[in-house]
Amino acid sequence: MKVLVVGSGGREHAIVKALKKSPEITELYCLPGNGGIARDAVCVPIGAKDIDGIVKFAVEHRVDYAVVAPDDPLALGAVDALNAAGVPCFGPRKNAAVIESSKAFAKELMHKYGIPTAQYRIFTDVGEALDYVKECPIPTVVKADGLALGKGVVIASTREEAEEAIKSMMVDKAFGHSGEKIVVEEFLSGPEVSVLAFTDGETLVPMVSSMDHKRALDNDEGLNTGGMGTVAPNPYYTEAVASECMERIFLPTIRAMKAEGRPFQGCLYFGLMITKDGPKVIEYNCRFGDPETQVVLPLLKSDLFTVMRAVTEGRLKDVPVEFDSGAACCVILASKGYPQAYEKGCPITLPADYEGGEIYVAGAREQDGKLYSDGGRVLGVTQTAPTLQEAVAKAYALAGKVEFANGYCRTDIGRRALAAMED
Ligand code: AMP
Ligand code: GLY
Repeated sequence: MKVLVVGSGGREHAIVKALKKSPEITELYCLPGNGGIARDAVCVPIGAKDIDGIVKFAVEHRVDYAVVAPDDPLALGAVDALNAAGVPCFGPRKNAAVIESSKAFAKELMHKYGIPTAQYRIFTDVGEALDYVKECPIPTVVKADGLALGKGVVIASTREEAEEAIKSMMVDKAFGHSGEKIVVEEFLSGPEVSVLAFTDGETLVPMVSSMDHKRALDNDEGLNTGGMGTVAPNPYYTEAVASECMERIFLPTIRAMKAEGRPFQGCLYFGLMITKDGPKVIEYNCRFGDPETQVVLPLLKSDLFTVMRAVTEGRLKDVPVEFDSGAACCVILASKGYPQAYEKGCPITLPADYEGGEIYVAGAREQDGKLYSDGGRVLGVTQTAPTLQEAVAKAYALAGKVEFANGYCRTDIGRRALAAMED
């Protein structure tokens, strides 16, 4: 079968590598992909937001199945367009992708169906928002309603910061239309857990849990990034927490989406905070997480393509989805300077032997058989092992063998998870 993956990051490389193991796939394309993905799939320079271009390519090349991985094409209706052209897809339709592309929609859904989340108010009027933060408890959290490249959330520890965030989103339009509506919500605290789940709209199967490390520097210092590393499983996601999440969050969410006439098929990402009052939803994403996917899929024992097709065909309950009982760690090598200005075009040499691990390429191009950095997050070095401690040590050992003079990584990925396991 001919399969097409839409996207160009480390997440898409992990999806491509997992799909490549499927005996049923004879041709694998990635649009647009990158220099590293090109070693595992045929990459074609059609942008992930070029919905017409993607559909045209799929039809012309008689693609049998498509996986739409990033948020933008999902929010733009890539799945609807591919389906209309006769191509079955993994990923939600536009009317279900709204669970990520509108934070106000997500909050109202949770409120209506009693799904635990932070208390909130929605504003479309800047004056009302500014009045509200004169009185609300501080710290508070200001969020742009729409997609904002992961930058639309401000944790304000003073009223002045909250006011500034509101003005920047609603008046200066720092995120364009995405900030015309905002959510101001209660500040919650507790460890964070990411849970990705396969769902066909009726059945939901959570994957192994994971922990992201969002800040640029060790000890969770420095600026927020797209994610500097991940580990799986997440020790805070105990069996008791998992069953509470299933009962109070996961199943109620897919039932709510169905009841609203927006059945969700694909990978639903639950960003959770384990508060003293139990797990609460911080955010939903309508897709696989990045870099969560880079630790979750290496632990998937079942054939990814079989599971994906079961999701699309509404028969997930009949398909086993099994994970390895071990652990995984992914260390991101980023360009020095990221998440602010950084240089591109620096040469990278990967080790000859990955020692059982994987190196997922997020931001690099290939020229004359050599890789050159081409983004902020450049590589995701992943290792699996029977224990988290071993996985972390092996991932750092492998990362140490990559030659990338302009690269940096955090040195403490997994430290917090290991400490929590000792408590
Ligand atoms: P988001 O883009 O919604 O994932 O938010 C980015 C990060 O902001 C989350 O991973 C949390 O660390 C933090 N955050 C978001 N909402 C809240 C909240 N209500 N309370 C505390 N932290 C939050
Ligand atoms: N790692 C967070 C995300 O994928 O949104």
